[in-house]
Amino acid sequence: MEPIILLEDVWLRYRVPEERIRSIKEYAIRRLKGNLAMQQFWALRGVNLEVAKGEVLGIMGRNGAGKTTLMKVIARVLRPTRGRARVWGHVAPLLGLGAGFHDELTGRENIFLASAILGFSRQDVARRFDRIVAFAELEEFIDRPLRTYSSGMRARLGFAVATDVAPEVLILDEVLAVGDAAFQEKCHARINQFRNDGTTVLVVSHQASTIRSLCSRALLLDHGQIAFDGPVPDAIQRYNQIFNAALGLQG
Ligand SMILES: Nc1ncnc2c1ncn2[C@@H]1O[C@H](COP(=O)(O)OP(=O)(O)OP(=O)(O)O)[C@@H](O)[C@H]1O
Ligand SMILES: [Mg+2]
Repeated sequence: MEPIILLEDVWLRYRVPEERIRSIKEYAIRRLKGNLAMQQFWALRGVNLEVAKGEVLGIMGRNGAGKTTLMKVIARVLRPTRGRARVWGHVAPLLGLGAGFHDELTGRENIFLASAILGFSRQDVARRFDRIVAFAELEEFIDRPLRTYSSGMRARLGFAVATDVAPEVLILDEVLAVGDAAFQEKCHARINQFRNDGTTVLVVSHQASTIRSLCSRALLLDHGQIAFDGPVPDAIQRYNQIFNAALGLQG
């Protein structure tokens, strides 16, 4: 199988100022003087990953393990500090709730905005608009500002926009969890259909049940490294082991 995603020894470093800096002016002065102490943090440490077309891959790991960072590298939002990340195809990233959305715009306006970011023309979206709203079941709310939406409603809108036309790579970072049971079922049905059509899906979730029902393979990230990559039941078992160790129940 040809890969659609290939990561070779990917390292990613964040830099954060050591002390609190109160203004841009202070930042600029310190930078010029060269006394801006930066703390370095390696969020990804030597990640190797190959994902084939049509695979539905689960990504698990504790808070801060590097899951979102990894998704941002694949979505080309972040460039690896070291190593190489290659993705052949269009990526539709849903990185958290309302990423790419604007609070003051209505649901309708946000559909056009988010679709433009995904590369669709206005006419194309206008043609598909009703179908998107119907999938999200937001007909009543579509002309209200997004700030009045609940988190589940945001997730519905984001998922409906990103998946109306099957993308080549779909990233779902903690998006499914806030939907109610009925909507989750709809999302699962759509993802299963994608699998047959060759869309690659990356599902980040803390819920073992979500990973179990959708994915054929799962990664476990731990402190920026892939601690496990393989069959879902084994990944879930390792995930529980890491938790138990953290709780002092084991190892
Ligand atoms: N913009 C940033 N600047 C500095 N450090 C960051 C930044 N974003 C994330 N980090 C750090 O990188 C590490 C990985 O963060 P990341 O968001 O990838 O974790 P995660 O696995 O998605 O966690 P969660 O389950 O909470 O979503 C964390 O230690 C975090 O503090
Ligand atoms: Mg995250």
